Amino acid sequence: MTTSQPQIPAESDGPVRISPGKLHTDLAPWWHLLSPPEEYAAAADFYWKVIQSACPTPPRTLLELGSGGGNNASFLKRRCKITLVDLSPRMLRQSQTLNPECEHLTGDMRTIRLGRVFDAVFIHDAISFMLTAADLERAIQTAFVHCRPGGAALFAPDHVRETLRSSTSHGGHDSGGRGMRYLEWIWDPDPGDSTYLMDFAYLLRDGNGEVRVESDRLQLGVFSRADWLGILLRVGFEPSAVPYAHSEGGLGAEVFLGRKPV
Ligand SMILES: C[S@@+](CC[C@H](N)C(=O)[O-])C[C@H]1O[C@@H](n2cnc3c(N)ncnc32)[C@H](O)[C@@H]1O
Repeated sequence: MTTSQPQIPAESDGPVRISPGKLHTDLAPWWHLLSPPEEYAAAADFYWKVIQSACPTPPRTLLELGSGGGNNASFLKRRCKITLVDLSPRMLRQSQTLNPECEHLTGDMRTIRLGRVFDAVFIHDAISFMLTAADLERAIQTAFVHCRPGGAALFAPDHVRETLRSSTSHGGHDSGGRGMRYLEWIWDPDPGDSTYLMDFAYLLRDGNGEVRVESDRLQLGVFSRADWLGILLRVGFEPSAVPYAHSEGGLGAEVFLGRKPV
């Protein structure tokens, strides 16, 4: 079983093709065993505090772009009304089991236009699927268009260029008769470009005790602090970088906040 070297995405006139990996397509029903909702409590609390600190009154509506399995949403929905958008219908189906009361929509964060505004916009780790600066700008533009004046948008990339390092981790969970374990390997074949790789090996145990092995590769984007702040400013936000600090630590060194001027 081998995984081929991905092409560096070619910058074209339009958004570049995203490779969501098996994790967010065929293997989406395993998502909550790889990344269970209860592990998001502390981070979701941190994100909410940052969003709230940037708004004149606590947000009552929030749009999450790239909401995936809805793990953050399962906590944020206790604070306000949430609309969830993801490219993958199969990930949205996972989120619907967790968040049946939330509005779920299929769409691309770079192009979707809902024709309405929200008090706040949030893009968590899904922003790491933006492979080029042009696509990052498109996603931030989408957040700007859907954010009401006086509101705020929060972006939480897994890494910034300055802090990206090779690393490995493992984990996985059981539920009923099913279980999964994974090994995750982050590495960067070319630190001179705006992408890096996340390779996975999965062991997937079904309800009959049969275990199968899958490999997966995600190509993700990474940008410097200066790129982030520059794009936020160009789109029209008042930008700032906020240190990522909550009780359970976390991947990213910082998150990026954009206040939309009144
Ligand atoms: C790691 S998952 C997000 C998990 C999420 N933070 C949670 O709380 O469950 C990343 C998601 O980004 C989505 N995604 C990738 N590119 C996207 C795009 N251009 N527009 C919308 N969603 C996208 C994938 O389909 C995937 O569901």
